[in-house]
Amino acid sequence: MTFLFNSDARRGAIFREVLARELPDLPFEIDPARADPDDVRYMISWLVPADLGIYRNLEILFSIGAGIDQFNAAAVPEQVKIVRMVEDGIVRMMQEYVTLAVLALHRSWPVYLDQQRQQQWRAVAQPQAQQRRIGVLGLGMLGQAVLERLKPFGFPLSGWSRSSRTVDGVTTYHRADGLDQLLATTDILICLLPLTDETRGLLNAGLLAKLPRGAALVQTGRGAQLDQAALLNALDTGHLSGAVLDVTDPEPLPADHPLWRHPRVLITPHVASVTQPESAALAVAENIKRHRAGLAPVGLVDRRRGY
Ligand code: NDP
Ligand code: OXD
Repeated sequence: MTFLFNSDARRGAIFREVLARELPDLPFEIDPARADPDDVRYMISWLVPADLGIYRNLEILFSIGAGIDQFNAAAVPEQVKIVRMVEDGIVRMMQEYVTLAVLALHRSWPVYLDQQRQQQWRAVAQPQAQQRRIGVLGLGMLGQAVLERLKPFGFPLSGWSRSSRTVDGVTTYHRADGLDQLLATTDILICLLPLTDETRGLLNAGLLAKLPRGAALVQTGRGAQLDQAALLNALDTGHLSGAVLDVTDPEPLPADHPLWRHPRVLITPHVASVTQPESAALAVAENIKRHRAGLAPVGLVDRRRGY
């Protein structure tokens, strides 16, 4: 019975140490060439390896990230459980990033950065937090964590999910009609949805048009959810006032892409949240213990839903 770590050596060394402590009976291998494929029961990877079929006794394929859209689930045999990363490090980093982005947009940071480049000293009107409505698409691990972190600022908060959810202090909506209600009452829209057939291209011209004039976007889900041409158009017509993009399509954007130089856009290179190896290794060890005890792993992916 072996755990195969199919990712970078730096994080692998930390996983090796934590798993040796938590699961001393489980051999750990980082070099696939040194593992007997028939012994491999657990594997962690960012992508599904092309030779996955040789691991005939694989029981769990862990994603090293919170998202699993990069996994070609069709290439993973039905009996193999796919488990996404649910760990505190990812949550904390996403809370920091989205709080930073929301405050930057709330306090007109893109405008001031642009004015600084032009040596302009000019204050813009500043609404209070109580007048800036925040809407979060996705009320899962990250959406809810981000809303929790934003509560003390006093922004009116709302969120949208596929199924009906109740979140203390947050107005919640679900399904298509709920989305329209959320959009109509949102000044800063945050996307924390997984990429699925249903969410691909969701942030399109029609959706952006339903936001109030002057609204802004924080995109931390996946690049393919956003129609970037529609975003540019909404920014250029003044319908949207700004955007913070951590994910784009493709990543990185081509050098001549107009979003790079747009004065109302802040771009970061898919760093909103990064799996932290210490806490991630503990989460994986916990999940293996659960699996051995006959319990479902935390973060088990529902292949039908796609997340
Ligand atoms: P979860 O699976 O915990 O939550 C997903 C949420 O999205 C759920 O509330 C779900 O609804 C909702 N949802 C899914 N599909 C739809 C739909 N069609 N309509 C409405 N709501 C929908 O995921 P996480 O919170 O852990 O992560 C969300 C995403 O964040 C990841 O999939 C990844 O793409 C992205 N991410 C980005 C990172 C970055 O650095 N930029 C880092 C980590 C993650 P319901 O509650 O009803 O199931
Ligand atoms: C993730 C990511 O899904 O890094 O964890 O985007």
